[in-house]
Amino acid sequence: MRAALCLLCAGAWQLVSSGRAAAALKLSSLEKFQFKSWMVQHQKEYSVKEYHHRQQIFAQNWKKINAHNKGNHTFKMALNQFSDMSFAEIKRKYLWSEPQNCSATKSNYFRGTGPYPTSVDWRKKGKFVSAVKNQGACGSCWTFSTTGALESAVAIASGKMLSLAEQQLVDCAQGFNNHGCEGGLPSQAFEYILYNKGIMGEDTYPYKGKDGRCRFQPQKAIAFVKDVVNITLNDEEAMVEAVALYNPVSFAFEVTEDFMSYKSGIYSSASCHKTPDKVNHAVLAVGYGVNNGVPYWIVKNSWGTKWGNDGYFLIERGKNMCGLAACASYPIPQEGESLHHRHITSHVPYLWFSTQSTPVDREYSPEEPFHMCILLQ
Ligand SMILES: *[C@@H]1O[C@H](CO)[C@@H](O)[C@H](O)[C@H]1NC(C)=O
Ligand SMILES: *[C@@H]1O[C@H](CO)[C@@H](O)[C@H](O)[C@H]1NC(C)=O
Ligand SMILES: *[C@@H]1O[C@H](CO)[C@@H](O)[C@H](O)[C@H]1NC(C)=O
Repeated sequence: MRAALCLLCAGAWQLVSSGRAAAALKLSSLEKFQFKSWMVQHQKEYSVKEYHHRQQIFAQNWKKINAHNKGNHTFKMALNQFSDMSFAEIKRKYLWSEPQNCSATKSNYFRGTGPYPTSVDWRKKGKFVSAVKNQGACGSCWTFSTTGALESAVAIASGKMLSLAEQQLVDCAQGFNNHGCEGGLPSQAFEYILYNKGIMGEDTYPYKGKDGRCRFQPQKAIAFVKDVVNITLNDEEAMVEAVALYNPVSFAFEVTEDFMSYKSGIYSSASCHKTPDKVNHAVLAVGYGVNNGVPYWIVKNSWGTKWGNDGYFLIERGKNMCGLAACASYPIPQEGESLHHRHITSHVPYLWFSTQSTPVDREYSPEEPFHMCILLQ
C-alpha cells in the first residue's frame, strides 16, 4: 500500500484510551461540574475508568483555554467537541507524518497584478456556499474541501446549489494518491472527478464516514470537472485573486494544538510551520477581509456548525500562516452534456494549450483534450 497522506481531518473522535497521562491532578468542584455539563452538551458517555481519564484531559484543556482568553491574542478559544482529548493523542492517532505531495503539484495558475477588492465573502454574494458539514470520525477533510469548492463552482456557473458526495471520494479516489479516511488532497480529488467523469450527490451516495467499496454509478453523476487549477506554491496573493475573481479555494495548512479550541477572531500562530510537508488539514477559503489592520481569510471547516464560529474560522492572511499557501487549488466545473462544448473562456480568461503532456495512464475523452491553461494578464 502507498504511504498515506498526513492530512489530519480531525472529526468526531472515537475515543480509545491509551497511554494514560502521568499523575492525576486534583480537580476543583468547578472543573468537575464543567466537565459534567460539557458531557451532557456533547452527549458523551464513558466507562468509570474512561471518565476519570477524560476528566483530567478536559480540565487541562479548560485551563489552557482560560489562560489563552486572558492573554492578548487575536482569537478566542472555547470548549468544543474535542475538549476531552489531548493533542498528543490526536497527533498519535490522527495525524500522519509522511510529507505531502502538494509541493510537487505543478501550478497552472498565473496571476495578474490586481488590485483586488479589500474584502470578499462568497456567502454574501448569493447562494454560492453550501452548508457546513461534519466529517465525523474519518480523516476525510480533503473530501469536504473538494465538494465545498465544486459545489460553489457549480453554483457560481449555473445558479444550482448541489450537495456532493464526499463518500464517493473516500471510496473511489485512491487511484489519484488519495487514501480515504487516511487523507488525501483536494487537487488530487478534482483530478479524480475530472477523469472519472463526475461525482454523485449526497442523496444518492450518502456520507458514512468510513472507508468502503466504491459504488459510483455514472448515470447518477450530477457534477463534473472540466479542469483543475493549481495555485503556485506559496503564492498567497494568487489565492486572493482566485477568491476575488473566480471561486472559493481549497487549501491545506498545519493544525497545531490551539487551533482545536478556536472559537472566534483571527487565528494566528507562532508555533505552526509554513512548509508544504507539514500541512495536515484541508479546508475551503470562501472570502477574505481586514480587521483593525489585520488581513484574514474566511474559511469553511468540516467539523460541524458547533465548532468555531458556526463552523467557520478566520486565519491571518498574507504570511503564509501555517503553510496555508502550500497546497491551494479549485475546480472549473463542466455542467454535464448540455454544456459539453461550452467554452471555458466564458468563465476565466484563459489561453489554452493542448500541447501539454497528457497523463498517459489515465483515461480521458478525445474531444476533451487535456489542457494546460495560462491566465491572460
Ligand atoms: C506522492 O506521489 C507519488 C507519485 O505519484 C506516490 O507514489 C506517493 O504515494 C504519493 N505520496 C502520498 C503521501 O500520497
Ligand atoms: C496586544 O498585542 C498587540 C499585537 O501584537 C500589540 O500591538 C499590543 O500592544 C498588545 N497589547 C498589550 C496590552 O499587550
Ligand atoms: C494539479 O494538481 C494535481 C494533483 O496534485 C496534479 O495531478 C495535476 O497534474 C496538477 N495540474 C497541473 C496542470 O499541473
